[in-house]
Amino acid sequence: MQEYLAAIDAALEQILSRNPLTPHRVLDAMHYSVFAGGKRIRPCLTLAFCQLCGGDPTTALPFACGIELVQTYSLIHDDLPCMDDDDFRRGKPSCHKQFDEATALLAGDALLTMAFESLSQAELPPERVVKAVEIFSRLIGVVGMIGGQEMDLEAENPDTRPDLDTLRTLCARKTCALLQASCQLGVLAAGGTEEQLSAAGEYAYQLGMAFQIVDDILDVTADPEKLGKPVGSDAANGKVTHVTLLGLEGASQEADRYTARALSLLERFPGSEPLKELTRNLLHRDY
Ligand code: IPE
Ligand code: IPE
Ligand code: MG
Ligand code: MG
Ligand code: MG
Repeated sequence: MQEYLAAIDAALEQILSRNPLTPHRVLDAMHYSVFAGGKRIRPCLTLAFCQLCGGDPTTALPFACGIELVQTYSLIHDDLPCMDDDDFRRGKPSCHKQFDEATALLAGDALLTMAFESLSQAELPPERVVKAVEIFSRLIGVVGMIGGQEMDLEAENPDTRPDLDTLRTLCARKTCALLQASCQLGVLAAGGTEEQLSAAGEYAYQLGMAFQIVDDILDVTADPEKLGKPVGSDAANGKVTHVTLLGLEGASQEADRYTARALSLLERFPGSEPLKELTRNLLHRDY
């Protein structure tokens, strides 16, 4: 991951590099949030899956950057007062606190747009790039991440509180979908097989479920300094999460089960030991 991180940051810096642009407040806000200290799990997954499928991870960097630009946009919008209304993100004031709401809205829009620019810059066979755009746009759109964010807001409404099945669908969309795009774009960059594409998607689903359950747990148990975002946000918004429905212990057991399934799916990828370690570490993360 350490090797990947430096390459991802350099590529992100390049695509965001300042044009002689006036005014530049929106660009400043984009830069601020992209470099605020995210963990970069998703772009690392893109490079890791490219490597696992026999590709050169450098060729997947434009895909990895597209993923991280969308991750950052989704968090900027997620923190807005009309969404989760959170004032801290990645250990710093949220974008709308550091700048203002309109700037945060536009910065998110521009990051989403820039993600597609980044995908288009991949020096790969055009049919792989087109397929990547298709998978990416579906998974981050209304049947994927955005649909999940809509369900997440509905889950705050006492009249439409989700049961466990609905909560699972919500998570599959809001969190797993972008992780699936992350892994599958790596497979695509490498020119992997349909079997690898579908195994990567299944792995990302299991990982994403565990990831969101741990996120829900951390919203109750974490140290906000370490977490870099407010603790107690879900409860303050009256959100139904895995902790609400299963309790802390039950949620933690559920995350264990999803992680075990994610690990077993990695058996299909020879050389995935480092990724197994990452998968286990994410279960035990404290931020
Ligand atoms: C936060 O994702 C959003 C969720 C799906 C819970 P991360 O915890 O990966 O956030 P960053 O990118 O490291 O800030
Ligand atoms: C956000 O989920 C998932 C997104 C699609 C942005 P959360 O609302 O739980 O993420 P945090 O806890 O604010 O990072
Ligand atoms: Mg949210
Ligand atoms: Mg949130
Ligand atoms: Mg959360």
